[in-house]
Amino acid sequence: MPLAAPVSDIAHLRRRIVGIDQPVPVLGGGTLPYVNLDNAASTPALVDVLDAVNRFLPYYASVHRGTGFKSRLSTAAYDHAHEAIGRFVGADLRSNTVIFGKNTTEAINKLSYRLDLAADDVVITTQLEHHSNDLPWRGRCRVVHVHATPEGRLDEEDFDRQLAGYAGRIKLVAVSGASNVTGFIQPIHRLAAKAHAVGAQILVDAAQLAPHRRVDMRPDDDPEHLDFVALSAHKMYAPFGTGALVGPKEVFLRSGPEYRGGGTVDVVTLDEVYWAGLPDREEAGSPNVIGAVAAAAAAETLMAVGMDAIAAHEEAMLRYALQRLQTVPGIRIYGETDPAQLADKVGVIPFNLDGFSHFLVAAILGYEGGIGVRSGCFCAHPYVVHLLQLDERTASTWREQILHGDRSHMPGMVRISFGCYTNTDDIDRLVAMLHRIARREYVGDYRLDPRTGEYTPANWQEPDWRELWGWKTSGDPV
Ligand code: ALA
Repeated sequence: MPLAAPVSDIAHLRRRIVGIDQPVPVLGGGTLPYVNLDNAASTPALVDVLDAVNRFLPYYASVHRGTGFKSRLSTAAYDHAHEAIGRFVGADLRSNTVIFGKNTTEAINKLSYRLDLAADDVVITTQLEHHSNDLPWRGRCRVVHVHATPEGRLDEEDFDRQLAGYAGRIKLVAVSGASNVTGFIQPIHRLAAKAHAVGAQILVDAAQLAPHRRVDMRPDDDPEHLDFVALSAHKMYAPFGTGALVGPKEVFLRSGPEYRGGGTVDVVTLDEVYWAGLPDREEAGSPNVIGAVAAAAAAETLMAVGMDAIAAHEEAMLRYALQRLQTVPGIRIYGETDPAQLADKVGVIPFNLDGFSHFLVAAILGYEGGIGVRSGCFCAHPYVVHLLQLDERTASTWREQILHGDRSHMPGMVRISFGCYTNTDDIDRLVAMLHRIARREYVGDYRLDPRTGEYTPANWQEPDWRELWGWKTSGDPV
């Protein structure tokens, strides 16, 4: 029986996506409208964001130090952007600050330097994390990884055990709001209450949560308050190089910043430095004002559309996709597979096809289907090894091979990830291609490059990027 396609009241968002249905060349000649199912890595821009940037650019000038009209306007726009991001995550800006940087990774690294961590302090993180919420803590103090359950959810009993075991030494609980591999949403407010009960603070890496669900830090005196939130604008429809760290002012006022220079000070003598207030002292050098304006426009557009409407639409797409994917012979889906159990999951589905390398499936989808996905371990090696249930011998053989420059046998998965604009046609295109692959009806003769693990069709001719974009080379006249 054909599945009923869910109808969404935010279908109009699709027309507000820059580059939607952009034709791209595919193997065998011709073009297909591009289907982007790699939104967990980066989303396209919203038209509203591009409009805001285009409106602002004629007025762009230096912030904070200039006296001209454009500088005053740019300063107001930059200050407003801090306020908009604070509102987007429900921060009390009397006691909290919004610090712009490049992305979530930079925000978490910044926090790892700005927290006063001693070698025997403990940061509790989880096996579900993206490397960016794991590696910054390593080497700074003792890092404890809470286990994941076999299907990939947080093992909350293990969380409770670790919290009790290290009570008194725990400085921070650092968890992702949603997993970039399985989409599982962590119970962040419950974890916050538990962290606070043992005197720890909590950081939520909201890179994968903020585009899909409302993030609400809640009042500072609420036991379920989130102390720190990090996010990336390029994952929320504003790919202009900005991310943010939101957290208590007093943490950043305790000491000088880790990056020092222009803009971070009130007064400097040859012997003394008086640091500026917040957020200036944490944003050394000329900031990315355009990126901040874009991030604010994205946050305000998402708030106007309504995060609840976005969540409902994405859940309908997720349900539809899980049902449709299960018709593909030989598919193995990881994480939650029951379309009735999606309350704690954003639109991310990892899978493998029996008898096919994940690299090959991803390549065929791209070269023949015009469909963008991602494959591999998604910068979350420990979690993917766990989900794949690899024994230690297999995992260490694979690590050895990679360290010797051979990724041919690198384990991994294919990942599809949705945006607020993903529709059933996108999912149907994907499922039709997967059926073709399962029947071995793809046309390319794919060759593996062992150094990268990537497959390329033998007779594929990349377009001449230089000609396409008018790039100059050193020999060209200027
Ligand atoms: N964290 C990004 C992803 O999962 C890079 O694709």
